[in-house]
Amino acid sequence: MHDLGPLELSRRTLLAGASAATAAGTVPAIAGAQAVPDDGAVMASVSFSVNGQPRTLKLDTRVSLLDALREHLQLTGTKKGCDHGQCGACTVLVDGRRINSCLSLAVMHEGDAVTTIEGLGTPDALHPMQAAFVRHDGYQCGYCTPGQICSAVAMLAEIEAGVPSHVTADLDAPVTFSGAEVRERMSGNICRCGAYSNIVEAIAEVAGRRA
Ligand code: FES
Ligand code: FES
Repeated sequence: MHDLGPLELSRRTLLAGASAATAAGTVPAIAGAQAVPDDGAVMASVSFSVNGQPRTLKLDTRVSLLDALREHLQLTGTKKGCDHGQCGACTVLVDGRRINSCLSLAVMHEGDAVTTIEGLGTPDALHPMQAAFVRHDGYQCGYCTPGQICSAVAMLAEIEAGVPSHVTADLDAPVTFSGAEVRERMSGNICRCGAYSNIVEAIAEVAGRRA
């Protein structure tokens, strides 16, 4: 048997210590830092309208609107991408405005009107934005598409309402549709497949303009 060098000794000591700590349930210094204790749940009731239907849910107050839609109402059209407000896959409309539903607690939406991709149109009667995405091939895998479409619908309403963006040159003039406005206003909706040019064409068609 060869002699153990100091490095091997310290490695063995570390592994033995970690195993003992795991067995004793004392490891959570790292793993437990993000753990949610089961007994910490605070339940609350929330009533809102989802795609025109009144819904009442009793939820852990920590449940996001995204998880309430997907896990409690089985509306899986709204996608979970990053779950950190960075990709836009979870975009839904709340009282006509687009939000990242992963960043919003469900219980904050008492009395609100939530619209998901399922509420915009049906396979037999697509919303004009859905139909334009199909015509212009505005997707590849489709994972970002529900969020893109919800976001695009709200984005056009923002332009029509005269809400300026970071690239609006003249804040005193009416806001007009342009490719630059679309790209800026849709920049929160990431498409990993890179279908951006077709997405912009679809939005431009609905706007009745050229991007
Ligand atoms: Fe909400 Fe990515 S899942 S922004
Ligand atoms: Fe695949 Fe956008 S179509 S991520």
